[in-house]
Amino acid sequence: MSPITTIAEIGKHEGQTVTIRGWLYNLRESGKLLFPQFRDGSGVIQGVVPKNAVTPEVFEALKTLTQESSVIVEGKVRADKRAPGGYELDVINVEVVQRVSGSDPYPISLKEHGVDFLMEHRHLWLRSPRQASILRVRAEIIKATRDFFDDRGFTLTDPPILTPAACEGTSTLFPVDYFDEQAFLTQSGQLYIEATAMALGKVYSFGPTFRAEKSKTRRHLTEFWMVEPEVAYAQLDDIMELAEQLISFIVKRCLEKRSFDLQTIGRDVTQLAKIHAPFPRIAYDDAVTMLQEAHVKGLIENKFEWGGDLGSPDETYISSQFDRPVMIHRYPAKVKAFYMEPDPQRPELALCVDVLAPEGYGEIIGGSQRMASYDLLVQRIREHGLPEEAFKWYLDLRKFGSVPHGGFGMGIERAVAWICGLEHVRETIPFPRTLHRLYP
Ligand code: 4AD
Ligand code: MG
Repeated sequence: MSPITTIAEIGKHEGQTVTIRGWLYNLRESGKLLFPQFRDGSGVIQGVVPKNAVTPEVFEALKTLTQESSVIVEGKVRADKRAPGGYELDVINVEVVQRVSGSDPYPISLKEHGVDFLMEHRHLWLRSPRQASILRVRAEIIKATRDFFDDRGFTLTDPPILTPAACEGTSTLFPVDYFDEQAFLTQSGQLYIEATAMALGKVYSFGPTFRAEKSKTRRHLTEFWMVEPEVAYAQLDDIMELAEQLISFIVKRCLEKRSFDLQTIGRDVTQLAKIHAPFPRIAYDDAVTMLQEAHVKGLIENKFEWGGDLGSPDETYISSQFDRPVMIHRYPAKVKAFYMEPDPQRPELALCVDVLAPEGYGEIIGGSQRMASYDLLVQRIREHGLPEEAFKWYLDLRKFGSVPHGGFGMGIERAVAWICGLEHVRETIPFPRTLHRLYP
């Protein structure tokens, strides 16, 4: 048998006979010519099969082949400028590994399907070239994120997923029975990586997080992956700089390495090419002014009052005013989590930042400087009605060498949705969990 290769690598074998192992994606017929399209997970390639070039058995096997049947194909690689990947395969031989039955065909045909139908068949929908490209971009974003931190002296430290208490507020906790005790799925690894940051200086975590969000929006999942850096001695400005560096790095990497996938997805990459640090920084106060002016002009429906958290339409409006991500800092402490350091100039504000992606994608990063004072932290834990006992260990961090420190969390699915230009986060993860969906 000829050497086995993948469609992505097939260019290295121009003029040679190779074997690829995959599935039949599509089949066109034109007189005595068959044009089967094969996919193997790395890409799609068109085969060309003139009737007189193969045995009658091979021709017949291909002619009657059904969509998504698994096949091992031998053929000669030919460069073709018109082919999307640059190459075509002159088929010599085909071995059908499993033939999809004609009476129970592959349910996802190449015509348009509704999203509900596709979500029901998510386990198969993943095979479509567009979905595969999205997952490749996701993997690239994850790798770029790890490279970014690994190359800058950060140590990866993994926080627990089963936790005794809330990090981001009690309203979105998933309870778990932990040997007759109540535990929760983690909302964020932050509190734990504050501990590892005091041990290792610069750390990050990268793992699944859970929010029992009742929101049915295009930005919310109940299970999502978050990368969280945490840095000892960092202040809010350092955190903002780290956030803009990370985002610029990821976008550049995707443009360099995933341009074919971005093209398959239909992303307008000229928008991404504009993403360079520094990003605009807007104080919450000024964001409120922007929103109120927009309301007067009739550009947003509701009048925004100082003191509230920004809603999705507010974020969408602000982010659509800029061609790169914008960083909104110093929100009122009341709308943010208990652990944020107050602004020494205006203690009613928190030293925090939300990074809003452009093109109306909304918040992709939330972060802050953390409260350093033991006494104030105890007070906040009480004000937020949190169980003090469960935070005893966390308070220890303020007793034994407390220092200014900070970090942020970036939701991977939100980053993928923006970089791929998707309408909804449900396509950014192989098996999304949302308010009404826990299947497949
Ligand atoms: O703003 P959040 O809630 O911040 C934290 O959890 C901090 N403890 C992070 C830190 O400082 N270490 O969440 C951070 C990010 C958001 O900006 C968003 O990208 C993502 O996590 N996120 C979600 N993504 C999808 N679905 C949801 N329900 C999300 N909730 C938050
Ligand atoms: Mg947030």
